[in-house]
Amino acid sequence: MIRPSLPLLKIGLGGLLALFSACQPSPDPGPADGPLRPYPLTVPRHLSGNFALPADNPLTEQGVALGRRLFFDRRLSGDNTVACANCHQPAAAFTDPGQARSRGVRGQLGTRNAMSLANLLWVSRFFWDGRSPSLEAQALEPLLDPTEMDQDTARLAAELQATAEYPPLFRAAFGSERITAGRVAQALAQFQRTLISANSRYDRYLLGDRTALNSLEVEGMNLFFTHPDPARGLRGANCGDCHRQVMTDGDPSGLRGFHNNGLDPDPRLQPGLQQVTGNEFDRGKFRAPTLRNIALTAPYMHDGRFATLEAVLDHYDQHVQNSRTLDPLILEASNEPRPDPAAPVLLHLTPREKQAVLAFLRSLTDSTFITDRRFANPFP
Ligand code: HEC
Ligand code: HEC
Repeated sequence: MIRPSLPLLKIGLGGLLALFSACQPSPDPGPADGPLRPYPLTVPRHLSGNFALPADNPLTEQGVALGRRLFFDRRLSGDNTVACANCHQPAAAFTDPGQARSRGVRGQLGTRNAMSLANLLWVSRFFWDGRSPSLEAQALEPLLDPTEMDQDTARLAAELQATAEYPPLFRAAFGSERITAGRVAQALAQFQRTLISANSRYDRYLLGDRTALNSLEVEGMNLFFTHPDPARGLRGANCGDCHRQVMTDGDPSGLRGFHNNGLDPDPRLQPGLQQVTGNEFDRGKFRAPTLRNIALTAPYMHDGRFATLEAVLDHYDQHVQNSRTLDPLILEASNEPRPDPAAPVLLHLTPREKQAVLAFLRSLTDSTFITDRRFANPFP
């Protein structure tokens, strides 16, 4: 069981309540009317409290419920065929199962792999290259992208305004029936902030249940977090150097979580973070995403190039490509002394060690998260 702790909603609610009660009562107060109720967000005690909720978009039950509906509604796309949930399916930890790159409206193929939406509270730079600074800003990108949802903000607002169901829901969440793309984005952001995954077997292990992981998984966990040092007889898989907190992926300050993990040699390095910072030393750097539920989110990497976790581990062990921005934490990490700096970058894990790391990765699956009714499709 997840233990509720931290009551979170302290900010901004008074102001919003005042705003709401200033509105005229509707002549026909439907079930949507009533005071804004703070959403009972609970953050399990073993997750970091190091995140911020925006004061101008606090979580309310009405806002979250509206966001959930919008998230699963195909009418959000230009031709009413693609919902956010098409590419972010709950059963696959909110990714697009089996798709290296997702298809948007009219079957168009995108360029990137759909990301998991677990624990976004702890993310401060969104997308693989970190180009979006908030969930509110982020939501408009897939909506407007011609290959994803190909929507027009004015058309979207008008279309939702003309439905019977949405105006009262917007009134309940924002105090007036006026529908704008900004409010759509705010509601989507509220819903997505509630997607907390914290009940894998590894979580239970961290909370003190030492039987939650078997001995192979514990071995894998230790390898995962150890930086190898052959001079000191220390063996490790070096993963925790970048995937520091498998739990939360927490890097509230922003840009530290971006690395070049050796997918491509120099001539093929994609811009990645360089597109955001303009710094050539950021070329080829992408976000090291959360590894929660990683067994459910294949294929892997920003372009979905690896079909399995075995292939991912093989990459780190045998196929790291050297380049001018390759992360020093990878360059320096090996379980065997490196003969010379020009030699290939090899991690040298044994088959047993690989098996252990894979077993640990599979212990990060949170089956209660993917079946949580609060996160499920609300449409019949
Ligand atoms: C056609 C598939 C598709 C649709 C539809 C789609 N997404 Fe995504 N989503 C993606 C892909 C691909 C990425 C990674 C894009 C990138 O990094 O450039 C992504 C990334 C994200 C992220 C960033 C997560 C992170 O950790 O940085 C969020 C949040 C998100 N999507 C929410 C949404 C919402 C909300 C909607 C609906 C308004 C939506 N998506 C619709 C495919 C899709
Ligand atoms: C130098 C930093 C670094 C190290 C060390 C590292 N990773 Fe990564 N990892 C990343 C980055 C960055 C990405 C995203 C790269 C991309 O898609 O371009 C990533 C992606 C992944 C993914 C795919 C995630 C997804 O959602 O598609 C998996 C799985 C993964 N790493 C596992 C591991 C394991 C296991 C280890 C240890 C053997 C490891 N990583 C070591 C930085 C690192």
